[in-house]
Amino acid sequence: MSVAATTARANVNLALVKYWGKRDPALNLPATGSISITLGGLSVETDVEFGGPGPDRLEIEGQPASGEEASRIAGFLDLVRREAGVEAGAHVATRATVPRGIGLASSAATFAALALAATRAAGLRLSQPALSVLARRGSGSAARSVFGGFVEWHRGERPDGSDSLAEPLAPPDHWDLRVVVAVTDAAPKAVSSRAGMARAASSPLYPAWVEGVDADLAEARAAIRARDLEALGLVAEHSALKMHAVGLGARPPLLYWRGTTIECMHRVWALRQEGTRAFLSIDAGPQVKVLCAPGDAPRVADTLGAVPGVQRVLTCALGGGVELVG
Ligand code: DP6
Repeated sequence: MSVAATTARANVNLALVKYWGKRDPALNLPATGSISITLGGLSVETDVEFGGPGPDRLEIEGQPASGEEASRIAGFLDLVRREAGVEAGAHVATRATVPRGIGLASSAATFAALALAATRAAGLRLSQPALSVLARRGSGSAARSVFGGFVEWHRGERPDGSDSLAEPLAPPDHWDLRVVVAVTDAAPKAVSSRAGMARAASSPLYPAWVEGVDADLAEARAAIRARDLEALGLVAEHSALKMHAVGLGARPPLLYWRGTTIECMHRVWALRQEGTRAFLSIDAGPQVKVLCAPGDAPRVADTLGAVPGVQRVLTCALGGGVELVG
């Protein structure tokens, strides 16, 4: 990559009220709103350069991208080219500090970083709201990784998606929290979030899921405002478990958990019984993410690290939004 490349970095985010289901899959328009925290230290960096007339050259961790990953990035570059009136092929190189495809939401960071780097490289300067709308087209959850701290992605009403974007609820320093991640299985997941969401609609539990999200959003917003960990943790856990319950009722069924996932869940509940305020969340994979206060993070990390089958434990604080590098 030459010195003329534009580089951007974005952090992953953890949804406390989950996005799980779309009203328009082509535009990544969600069936409901969602609320997340952006996590520091788990990030994706992307270089973009528009050059000669040739086809796009896409590299992930120094290897040529292939399959669905490559076609999603190429499709996203087409959106940017159309908006900027650029025809040239692009050279894109991405590097992650987060393992990919294991349910740590790397696609959110990938497309938030790509949205900023590609638009700047194409000569566009988008506002943050416009960047969020664009990032959403790459991956729904990427709309939230544009911003740091506590973030809400609004469902929106318009069919073109122009009002389906994220906005910050509070900056990272509003409330010092930790997320402890127990990696229970580092193998790539068999069913992507995208495919999992498409299946969710076959579940009789799906309408109940959609109907309950507005109440969860209101509870989470109020808890964030009041810095009430118990309230935020309980609604986050409730949202995650309902999302996975939808999958159990789908045809064919969908279960992202492994045995170690379930053991971690029980250990978190045992910690709570002993008086530690620790609350779990699980995304489209077998890893368990635990929300807690900074002072409790070492105990949570030790407890999860001692669960047989846990391969690695990471602790993250809240992080900032997407930014240019260099
Ligand atoms: C379980 O944003 O990866 O992490 O929009 O199809 O790219 P696409 O899906 P994606 O889904 C994330 C699902 C989730 C919950 C969440 O982040 O809200």
